[in-house]
Amino acid sequence: MKKLITVLCQLLVGGTFLFSGLVKAIDPVGTSLKLGEYLQHFGLVGMADLSAALAWVLALSEFALGLLFFFGQHRKMSLWLGLLIMLFFTPLTLYLALYNPVDDCGCFGDAWVLTNWQTFAKNVVLLLAIVWMLFNRKRIAQWLVEEWFAFYFYAAMIVVAGLCLIGTRRLPYIDFRPYRPGVSMRQLAFGSRAPSASETLYYVIYEKDGVRREFLLDSIPDESAGWEFVDTRIVEPQQSQPAGKTQSLVLFDAEQREVTAEVLGDTGYVFLLLSPDLLTADEHDLDCIDNLYEYAMQEGYAFYCITLNDPAAVGHWRYRTGAEYPMLFADQQEIETMIRSNPGFMLLHDGVILWKSQLSGIDVPVLTSAKLSEQSYGQIQPIHRKKRVFWIIVWLIAPLFLYLPLQFIYKLIKNKNRKMRKKIVAGNWKMNTTLQEGVALAEGLKAALAGKKVNCDVVVCTPFISVASVVKAVEGSVIGVGAEDCSEHEKGAFTGEVAANMVASTGAKYVILGHSERRQYHGENNAILVNKLNQALANGLTPIFCVGEVKEERENGTFKQVIEGQMEALYTLSAEDFAKVVVAYEPVWAIGTGLTATSEQAQEVHAFIRASIAKKYNAAIADNTSILYGGSCKGSNAPELFAQPDIDGGLIGGAALKVDTFMPIIEAWK
Ligand code: 13P
Repeated sequence: MKKLITVLCQLLVGGTFLFSGLVKAIDPVGTSLKLGEYLQHFGLVGMADLSAALAWVLALSEFALGLLFFFGQHRKMSLWLGLLIMLFFTPLTLYLALYNPVDDCGCFGDAWVLTNWQTFAKNVVLLLAIVWMLFNRKRIAQWLVEEWFAFYFYAAMIVVAGLCLIGTRRLPYIDFRPYRPGVSMRQLAFGSRAPSASETLYYVIYEKDGVRREFLLDSIPDESAGWEFVDTRIVEPQQSQPAGKTQSLVLFDAEQREVTAEVLGDTGYVFLLLSPDLLTADEHDLDCIDNLYEYAMQEGYAFYCITLNDPAAVGHWRYRTGAEYPMLFADQQEIETMIRSNPGFMLLHDGVILWKSQLSGIDVPVLTSAKLSEQSYGQIQPIHRKKRVFWIIVWLIAPLFLYLPLQFIYKLIKNKNRKMRKKIVAGNWKMNTTLQEGVALAEGLKAALAGKKVNCDVVVCTPFISVASVVKAVEGSVIGVGAEDCSEHEKGAFTGEVAANMVASTGAKYVILGHSERRQYHGENNAILVNKLNQALANGLTPIFCVGEVKEERENGTFKQVIEGQMEALYTLSAEDFAKVVVAYEPVWAIGTGLTATSEQAQEVHAFIRASIAKKYNAAIADNTSILYGGSCKGSNAPELFAQPDIDGGLIGGAALKVDTFMPIIEAWK
């Protein structure tokens, strides 16, 4: 039951963040306008310039947090972040609900307008859900493995950033506002001033120079100016009532005369150049405005610029652009509602919106090449919102399923690379064999391998005293021989030590360095190991360099840092020297304990080591480096371990001491 509640909370919180991030991303201009309102209310007008950038940040971070919650990833971080956000927003929305400084909070953009009290209630529910999850963190469902989620996370974020970009550069991919193609502006404009039930709207239709326009009775045009009466049109009250939210578009001309009915009553084509603020309007494509205006004049279409009544801005605009078209004035917010770009164009016919676009979206040569009635620009260009919603969903869901085929291809390529690097099974006899026992073991192994097809390199690393004899014993076989250590010094008064050149002088080709037992009992650290590596390489030995974490480091999650730290000794080598090294991952908690790392655990670390090498050197070197696994590796678990794409063999302790137990591990390379 607790699990079910937790999963529901996670879906609710995740889903809410996803939705609110997405709608903000679809309409970033709307989001930034809303943010501007807030900043103004809280006296942060100086930050208004930032509101466009803040809109992006808000949209993307809400969506990102939504993904983390929904998929149950990075639980600790997402829960604390979510809690912090809700602790900030819940009191803020209570303040909004109590004092109403902003009509609607805008948390779901214009896609779903909530009252301030509804928003507050929503936030309380989210806060409670997050608190519940904090206490039931372990019950949060994690639907995807980490790598899959990471892939999906970035892919989905790219989609959402793309929507933000469309909304910023063009118009929102989905228009949540009522001014859409096919909608009657007349109905929208007169909706809020809807005539009383008994009132009917009377339009008169006049014609001048072959152009017909519709006027309300109180704004009949001057017949002496060439207007001729043609007809009347009566709109009954119920017809003039718009569905849903009413709007209030009121247009004034330069003489402060209201001309809304005149402009929207025009039964012909009307171009509207819309700019909520001419001072900040984008000045690209200004020629496009001039060309359209000229074309409209030629064809007898009406052309107005609707902007904020700011004489200075208008004067400035006329001066800069040489604009001759008539200016009409409207409420800034209303213009921003009509179009999200600044400036933008809208084409009406008989008061109905045919299309709207940012300047760069209009193909002016095509549009001006024929009369509007004879081309598609003169028709309603419907935007299929359901189709667009469908495509957004597809774009957001597709990467989820793209991961598996991509992963498959990636594995294929990796396997190809893998063929290039050596597969090795190496024995580490440790302090276990006398000279005679060692020689006998080596001879036994040689005999067992004789005439067999061996699919990997076979190496035995023996105590110093056996190295030379074992080299002799395995002569003529595929077996390579190595020592279990060498001195960090070149030569001299180091009693009991064996130098790398002495190892090499026996004919041995390998040397194990940095084994956890030497790190633990002999205090070997990176400084010593760097010297040993240099000695080994200088004498032509291949170092089998061991790294691995202890139990505590595995349990407290620091194992990757620990391994990276151990790899630092190798990273002192030139790329050329590094290419000669074999790496062995040996989790200390799995050595001689019978506890093997699962193949997933081992693969995770091997992939991590390879990625680290690629970062330090390059992908080619990383692909060529053999990384062995060591720690209770036996014939029974070797096949599964070796099947992992980044495990290139094993470094075997106990099981290397008998031919019978060592051979099945070698044979695991089929
Ligand atoms: P075991 O195979 O005995 O666990 O030892 C692994 C090892 O330390 C090899 O170097």
